[in-house]
Amino acid sequence: MLFDTHTHINDEAFNKDFDDVLHRADEAGVRQMVVIGVDRSSMERVFPIIDHHAAIYGAIGWNPEDAVDMTEADFSWIKVHLKHKKIVALGEIGLDYHWDKSPKPVQHSVFRRQIRLARAAGLPLIIHNREATADTERILREEHAETVGGVMHCYSDNLDWAKKFIQLNFFISFGGTLTFKNAQLQRDTAAEIPLDRLLIETDCPYLTPAPFRGKRNEPARVRLVAEKLAEIKGLSLENLAAVTTANARRCFHLDTDADRDSEQNK
Ligand code: NI
Repeated sequence: MLFDTHTHINDEAFNKDFDDVLHRADEAGVRQMVVIGVDRSSMERVFPIIDHHAAIYGAIGWNPEDAVDMTEADFSWIKVHLKHKKIVALGEIGLDYHWDKSPKPVQHSVFRRQIRLARAAGLPLIIHNREATADTERILREEHAETVGGVMHCYSDNLDWAKKFIQLNFFISFGGTLTFKNAQLQRDTAAEIPLDRLLIETDCPYLTPAPFRGKRNEPARVRLVAEKLAEIKGLSLENLAAVTTANARRCFHLDTDADRDSEQNK
């Protein structure tokens, strides 16, 4: 059984064939996934999905690229909706220096405030980092993100950075880029990550693995990521699937739902 820890099946790219997409995921052995909202409209679309599908969990958080657009009302909305019992993480949040729409100080502030929100809610984080690794690590450390931990999504940095993020209680998640010809650094890094810290994801509809690069990605294709990671780790697909699924359930506290419910009812 496979667990896709990062999907955007709430994206309009899936409007026309949503049920077929879930059916193909099931046939590929992808039995659990997280659907992620990153702005008001995509966050709102998370809830009907998690309310109607037992094995799909949700994450909500404001993305760094649009940090300048986040209002106090958005912040309060996230705070309230984190209480839904199938919201298992706050994210994806982080830093993205590739785009210059949101100035760095604004990105930092929105990132820090949301880390504090996750800590208050006792939820793990899903971290988006693009061309901002040093600042991402520093802010996570300064905000004591290790108290909740979480996921370094679509990991593409080297092993030294990975060790720092693992020290901060994060899991390292690999996606379709692991299968790309020019991704030798990622494969070398993945080879050295401890098995109990590995996760897999699609980030669909983006980052489609080889040999389907350029097409729309979907959860069924996390199997291609799992096959590549199994090859790198010298494990059978079954073993790799079991390990990464157990890691995902541990990361998102899915074996302790009862604890969290009773915590919230206090
Ligand atoms: Ni994403």
